[in-house]
Amino acid sequence: MSPTPYLRLAGIGKRYATPVLSDIDLTLNRGEVLALTGENGAGKSTLSKIVAGLIEPSSGEMWLEDAPYRPESRHAAEKLGIRMVMQELSLLPTLSVAENLYLGHLPQRAGFLRTTELNAMAAEHMAAIGLDRIDPRQPVGELGIGHQQMVEIARSLIGNCQLLILDEPTAMLTPHEIDRLFEQIAQLKAKKVSLVYISHRLGEVEAIADRVCVLRDGHHVETRPMAGSSQDDIVRLMVGRDVLASTIRPTLPPAAPLLRVDALSRAPVVQEVSFEVRPGEIFGIAGLVGSGRTELLRLIFGADRADSGAIYLHGEASPTPIPSPQEAVHRGIGMITEDRKSQSLLLDKSIVVNTTLATLNRVTRRGWLKPLRERALTRELADTLDIRCHTLEQAVGELSGGNQQKVVLARWLLRDCDVLLLDEPTRGVDIGARADIYQQMEKMAADGKALVVVSSDLRELMEICDRIGVMSAGRLVKTFPRGEWEQQTLLEAAFSGYSKQAPQQS
Ligand SMILES: Nc1ncnc2c1ncn2[C@@H]1O[C@H](COP(=O)(O)OP(=O)(O)OP(=O)(O)O)[C@@H](O)[C@H]1O
Ligand SMILES: [Mg+2]
Repeated sequence: MSPTPYLRLAGIGKRYATPVLSDIDLTLNRGEVLALTGENGAGKSTLSKIVAGLIEPSSGEMWLEDAPYRPESRHAAEKLGIRMVMQELSLLPTLSVAENLYLGHLPQRAGFLRTTELNAMAAEHMAAIGLDRIDPRQPVGELGIGHQQMVEIARSLIGNCQLLILDEPTAMLTPHEIDRLFEQIAQLKAKKVSLVYISHRLGEVEAIADRVCVLRDGHHVETRPMAGSSQDDIVRLMVGRDVLASTIRPTLPPAAPLLRVDALSRAPVVQEVSFEVRPGEIFGIAGLVGSGRTELLRLIFGADRADSGAIYLHGEASPTPIPSPQEAVHRGIGMITEDRKSQSLLLDKSIVVNTTLATLNRVTRRGWLKPLRERALTRELADTLDIRCHTLEQAVGELSGGNQQKVVLARWLLRDCDVLLLDEPTRGVDIGARADIYQQMEKMAADGKALVVVSSDLRELMEICDRIGVMSAGRLVKTFPRGEWEQQTLLEAAFSGYSKQAPQQS
């Protein structure tokens, strides 16, 4: 006997300039985890936002426990217990963790914010969900992006929650934090809360979903029980084609390192880090969120100042000072940042503008933009990377998360830099597109460039890197050549620097 569905969708559609969702029928039961998967741009976030009241559907109807459900706003949906943690974080960086958690219902007396009470409430709530290591008084903007994500999730668990939608929640979490999240999900299920879980990580989907729903190009392909479905089955439904396997690159002859980092420090986040990367090499950096990986890349790129240490480029004997990102770019260094929303993309500008941003010299003649050339170059890259868009003039903010990431990559591919620093390059990118991005990275390496990749996805690093350095508590604790690493040894190295401070993490 099938249970009465908690939520029912019939014929849901959404069109902007073109249809992006068509005729979606779906049910969600109480206390189940429904995974929502599909390639970048398939419509997962759009469908979720319709359910969470952020977007109005163009057609179709919804029912909540057999009553018609048509939320007018996010607030209206939240009042009914329907909450969504968005793919892009929506916290206010200058407010404290506690203020972000209780925004909209801050404790007040006679118009004054009761800070002590607020911080105590926040501390209690966070402890209950295993986040007691975050200080509720700290401004959110000072937290690493992984912790910001956890705060965002914590916020959704305050008050009435009947249905929780998590859009790519683990993209920036460490394995330890993911375990914590999964414990939370299990507890919510036990309380008969329904969950929609969006992820490109099929291992996670397999671990926690009861059923899996696959979307492709805005259409519902199939919803089936997770039990009895393999990851390969799901990929086939998602992609409708075979995914390219990445090729093993030939090892290049030994050469002087293109990038050498010598005892680079910025207290307390980066401490005496040294490594080198040769032409043709992909050097991976593993480590927990907060271990100093992003900060290290920022130092190399001149976005922050080092206290001490030096950077040598192109095998030169004397160090190259890199006081600013402009200087880094001038010296042939590119960087793809982990947070595309605030650091990389001009969301209201077109794909063409965003792609050619770092390369204006290739598309300008004596200072005049050559629109045709600009467009042609962008078209070529959009095809290579399979960027799904309506037109190249479309604002980047309208693209799906994974496609935005491809635009960032396209920009640096076009720039043709010698050293490319990539911070979580496939965050939120689907399996097919990931394979495309790996291929591009391998192609760049084969062209003799040096790549440094930070990723929280160990399998990704193990697949594409020649060597992997592991950071822990600000230090590069160990470097493994290909063939000498295993997931377990990498993880042990990542935790090693914290063994005294944080025994619960080992
Ligand atoms: N405001 C908008 N205007 C025009 N098109 C939009 C808008 N928002 C989304 N789209 C389009 O709708 C489609 C579905 O996007 P959506 O963000 O739902 O994809 P997704 O499945 O969540 O992808 P990803 O895995 O990359 O996050 C995309 O082609 C996107 O470009
Ligand atoms: Mg999305």
